[in-house]
Amino acid sequence: MAPDVAASATGRVNLIGDHIDYAGGTVLPMPIAARTAVCAARAAADGFASEWTGDAGWERYARGVLAELRAAGVRVPPIALAVASDVPVGAGLSSSAALEVAVARAALGCAGVELPARETALLCQRAEHVHAGVPCGIMDQWCVAHAGEGAAGGEAIALDCAALAFRRVALPAALRIEIVDSGVRHALRDGGYAARRTDVEEAARILGVRLLGELPPERAHEVDALPPRIARRARHVVRECARVHAAVSALERVDLDAFGRLLTESHASLRDDFEVSVPELDALVADACARGALGARMTGAGFGGCAVVAWRVA
Ligand code: GLA
Repeated sequence: MAPDVAASATGRVNLIGDHIDYAGGTVLPMPIAARTAVCAARAAADGFASEWTGDAGWERYARGVLAELRAAGVRVPPIALAVASDVPVGAGLSSSAALEVAVARAALGCAGVELPARETALLCQRAEHVHAGVPCGIMDQWCVAHAGEGAAGGEAIALDCAALAFRRVALPAALRIEIVDSGVRHALRDGGYAARRTDVEEAARILGVRLLGELPPERAHEVDALPPRIARRARHVVRECARVHAAVSALERVDLDAFGRLLTESHASLRDDFEVSVPELDALVADACARGALGARMTGAGFGGCAVVAWRVA
């Protein structure tokens, strides 16, 4: 069957700001070179094919995107989709957002409809909530949908997840970002992710704010009075929100030492307060720092996946 449309979308790596997108914080992801490609052909009924992952669970993401597009009134004809990808699954590099956005682009192409990146991101997030059962934030779909189909590199986006406003942040030439895979795999459907999000929302409820990321800095000390587990989760969120702003400012004034320190602090917070790291990631971070990295941290949802390491290049 000859394809009618081919489309693709990149994965992403988050430099800093994890588990704060759903709390309305600002995050700092950037697209990576690994991408997911989708070919689509008009067919008698929807069909899905891939040798990309051994887990057929990926289909629910693709079906979800088609369902949400149709629910939004886009006349997507029945299509057969073939997927190929070099974005590792469960590695914290947004394999699901890359798949969702690539499927959306291919389906929109078949329907002859254009959708702004913002709407594509929100629609794909909804597909993940409703059809894959993962209550994700907006960071991944937003970053991937705004990356375009061109090659990635050199630029991160500072995305305010409450206002859905973003700006591009150039990476200094002397900074090299390395992604190291721990080889440990997560499945966000397993429940650890949803449990963290529930804790963060509980903290916001007790403190009487809409989103925990909107807690004014002068009230930050109030998180210490929350029940112990909720207090740890909230402490991570409040401090991580501040770290992202400090990291953006460090990049803009090319203070690479400060940027690196913030990464390593973020890791400690995700490990100790948010409890989403694993020993393999802790070891990668410790090893990178011992070898002279500016800083390092786990990236993405955690429970396995990758570490991001910042190096100074001569
Ligand atoms: C996953 C989710 C994102 C975000 C990160 C953690 O990638 O899809 O929305 O919450 O985890 O920062």
